[in-house]
Amino acid sequence: MAVPRHFLDLDRFDRATLRHILELAAIFKHDADRRQHPLAGRTLAMIFEKPSTRTRVSFEVAMHQLGGTVVVLTDTDSQLNRGESMADTARVLSRYVDAIMIRTSKPSKLAELADYASVPVINGLTDESHPCQLMADVMTFEEHRGPITGRLVAWSGDANNVARSWIQAAVRFGFRLRLACPKPLQPANGLLEWARSEGGEVTLTASPEDAVAGADLVVTDTWVSMGTREAETRHNLLAPYRVDEALMARAKPDALFMHCLPAHRGQEVSAAVIDGPQSVVWDEAENRLHAQKGILAWCLG
Ligand code: CP
Ligand code: NVA
Repeated sequence: MAVPRHFLDLDRFDRATLRHILELAAIFKHDADRRQHPLAGRTLAMIFEKPSTRTRVSFEVAMHQLGGTVVVLTDTDSQLNRGESMADTARVLSRYVDAIMIRTSKPSKLAELADYASVPVINGLTDESHPCQLMADVMTFEEHRGPITGRLVAWSGDANNVARSWIQAAVRFGFRLRLACPKPLQPANGLLEWARSEGGEVTLTASPEDAVAGADLVVTDTWVSMGTREAETRHNLLAPYRVDEALMARAKPDALFMHCLPAHRGQEVSAAVIDGPQSVVWDEAENRLHAQKGILAWCLG
C-alpha cells in the first residue's frame, strides 16, 4: 500500500513541494476557472482536542468550496475521550473518510494517527508545531512583498508551536529568522542545531530590539498557548517582548506585522500595531482558507 500524502511538519518537505502547495493555494484563490470541485465526493474528518476558530472554519469552508464534506469530532464527543487509541481511531476513520485533520497536544498522538491511517493526515496544530499556519503566513508575506527567500523575519515572544514552525519554514523557504525570547522560553537547542545543519540562518537573542532591527516582517503570538500553565510567570517574562509601536519602529519602515490569532491587545501586541497600517493579520487569517485548499488538494492528489 502506498504511503499516504501526510502533511505533518514542514521539515519533512522539500522546497519544491511546499512551493507547489502554495501555487495550488494561489490558483484556488485567484483563478475562477480552476475553482471547480476537485474534491467532490471526498470527506475530511477533523479531530479537535483543543479549541479552534480559524482552523475549524477554514478547513470546513475549504472542503465545502472544493466540493467535499467534513465530519468533526471533539474530545468530548468521541471515544478518544474514553481511551480509544489513536491507532484504532486511525484504522477506523480510514475506512470512512479520505483524509484526517487533527489538532492535539502531544506530537506523539499525531504521529500515531499518521502511522496507522491509510489516508492522509494533516497537522492542525500540536504543542510543538502549526505548519498549516505557516503556509498561510508565507503566502501572505509574498502577496504583499514578493518572494520571502532572503528576507529577514523577526519573532518576539515565546518560542511556542508557531515559532517552531517559523524555524522550519525559514530553513525550507530560505529566509533569515531572528528569534527574541526570554531565556526560560527559548526554543530547544536541537531545533536550532537542525536549522543550522540544514544551512538555515536562524539566530536567537534575548533582545527584541536586536531581533527586529531592519526586519521585513515582525511576528508574535500569545504569551499563554492552549494547555500552558504558569500564566503569571509568562506575563512577567514576556512583557518586554510586547510588539508595540516603539519596537516596530526599529524594523524596516515598510515592515509588516503578523500574528496567527487569537490576539490579546495590550499583552503580546499593542492595539496600535495590530490595528495599524503595518498589520496584515486579516489577510493572514483569510489565507488560512486558501492555503488549506492547497494542502487538501496536494494531500488528496
Ligand atoms: N491561528 C489559528 O490556528 O487559530 P484557531 O486556534 O482559531 O484555529
Ligand atoms: N500558540 C497558540 C497558537 C494558537 C493558534 C496556541 O497554541 O494556543
